[in-house]
This record gives sequence, C-alpha cells and structure tokens, in this order.
Amino acid sequence: MSDLLKGKKILVMGVANKRSIAWGCSQMMMENGAELIFTYQNDRIKKSLSRLVSEEEKLVECDVSDDASIENAFKLVNERFGKVDGILHAIAFANKEELGGEIMQASREGYALAQDISAYSLIAVAKYGREILNDPSSIVTLTYFGSERAIPNYNVMGVAKASLEASVRYLARDMAKYGTRVNAISAGAIKTLAVTGIKGHSELLKMSEERTVDGESVTIREVGGTCAFLMSDLSIGVVGDVIYVDKGVHLI
Ligand SMILES: NC(=O)c1ccc[n+]([C@@H]2O[C@H](COP(=O)([O-])OP(=O)(O)OC[C@H]3O[C@@H](n4cnc5c(N)ncnc54)[C@H](O)[C@@H]3O)[C@@H](O)[C@H]2O)c1
Repeated sequence: MSDLLKGKKILVMGVANKRSIAWGCSQMMMENGAELIFTYQNDRIKKSLSRLVSEEEKLVECDVSDDASIENAFKLVNERFGKVDGILHAIAFANKEELGGEIMQASREGYALAQDISAYSLIAVAKYGREILNDPSSIVTLTYFGSERAIPNYNVMGVAKASLEASVRYLARDMAKYGTRVNAISAGAIKTLAVTGIKGHSELLKMSEERTVDGESVTIREVGGTCAFLMSDLSIGVVGDVIYVDKGVHLI
C-alpha cells in the first residue's frame, strides 16, 4: 500500500484470532511497511495466533495481569529484535457475569478485575515499555463509547474504559519527555471474541450498525487504518487524544 511505516517495528498485543481488532490493525500496519512482533496471553491464544503468524520467533507470551510476565516479555522482545517504535495495546477483559443487568450488581472483585486487565494494564505496559521504546515512538490503545454513555450491559467495562482514556491522558503527559506519544482509538462495535461476552451483544451490534452513517459497521481494517496513522510520523502532533473510528455512531 505505502511505505508509511517502513523501518518501524511495532509490538502488537491482543490478537486472539482473525476477527480481532488488533489483527485488522496488524494487516494495515504490515501493508504500510511495518515489521510486527506479537504477544499472546496464553497457549490457547498462541495456537490460534500461529495460524495467522507463522514465524515462531515473532510470538512472545505476555499476560498483562502479571508484572513479571510483561517485564520478561519485553526483555525477550528487546533481545530478539532490539527497540521498537510502537506498541499496540488491544486488550480488555471482564467476567461474563459483570456484563449484564444493573451496575449495582457489580462485585468488588469483578470491578477490580476489569480495571486491572482493561485499564491498569496500559500503565504497566507503558512502564515496562519505556525500556524498549525508541524516541520517537507511539503507544495506541483501544477504547469504546461506553466510557462516556451508559450503554446497556457494558457496565464495569464502561467504567474501565473511562479509566483507560484518563490513563491515556496522564501517560501522554508523562511519556512525552521520552519521546513517546500515547493515544486511543474509540472503535465502533465489531463482532469479536471479546464482544460475545456482553449480554445481548447481538442487539448492541445491530443498534450500533443502524447508527453508522451508511448502515454498515466499521471494519477491523478501517480501525487499522487509523492505528497505522497513529503509529506513523504523520500523527506527530496527536498526543493524549481519543479518536473515534465508528462511522459516526457517537454523533447520534
Ligand atoms: N469489538 C468491539 O466492538 C470493540 C469496540 C471498541 C473497543 N474494543 C476494544 O478493542 C480491544 C480488542 O478487543 P477485540 O474486540 O478485538 O476482542 P478480542 O477478543 O479479539 O481481543 C481481546 C484480546 O485481549 C487479550 N487479553 C485478555 N486478557 C488478557 C491478559 N490478561 N493478558 C494479555 N492479553 C489479554 C485476549 O487474549 C485477546 O487477544 C479491547 O480493548 C476492546 O475493549 C472493542
């Protein structure tokens, strides 16, 4: 497609399968010349990731609930590939029972878990990532409109996304002196593994699709285009921002 990301090495965290938003981002970054390295959560995810990426040495285990796992993963990346120019954080998790009904039913543990994996993990990734990120470099994360509006059943995840977006702003301020920009993409609803955990996800996807400007859901490649832009030097002035890639759903 172009040489926009030629010479850039990007670490991609969060490809579970070919439907993952991180995979759409990966495709667009590769097509624009980037070299990619991938982390996977566990052996199960590694198996499905291996169907998309055949080079074993480009796959590194990393469970973001564990600091040591992040630190080890980034050390390994550094040993194998040297420093990187960007990190894509496309990771979120909440227990299924937290993603339905009323927010008052949220348990203390379930709330904390959603915050830990879906919001704090970006801070941990930035902390250990600092050691392997070039100057300049870019961190991109994925968020959702449920951070601002009370979307049915999204509950603790909406609160976690609000935390994630605030974390983007604080990280952008503090990472700037190391030459790292931090931004988020607020993607429209897309049918992925993560979405199927939400009660009534089919209605959510349908409602979202009806509200796009052309009645068709945004695709993972369309989200990926903005990811490629945010990883590139074209976006050098974009710092601590949340960019909507939802085909206008947030407007209506
Ligand atoms: N699908 C949507 O409609 C939508 C919309 C906006 C934002 N997002 C966000 O996009 C991101 C990617 O999700 P997706 O929809 O592509 O689903 P997905 O299920 O394909 O990806 C989620 C990823 O998170 C990883 N993950 C979960 N817990 C982890 C842990 N402890 N350590 C390491 N990795 C872990 C999973 O392995 C998986 O690869 C998430 O942050 C999600 O909230 C999704």
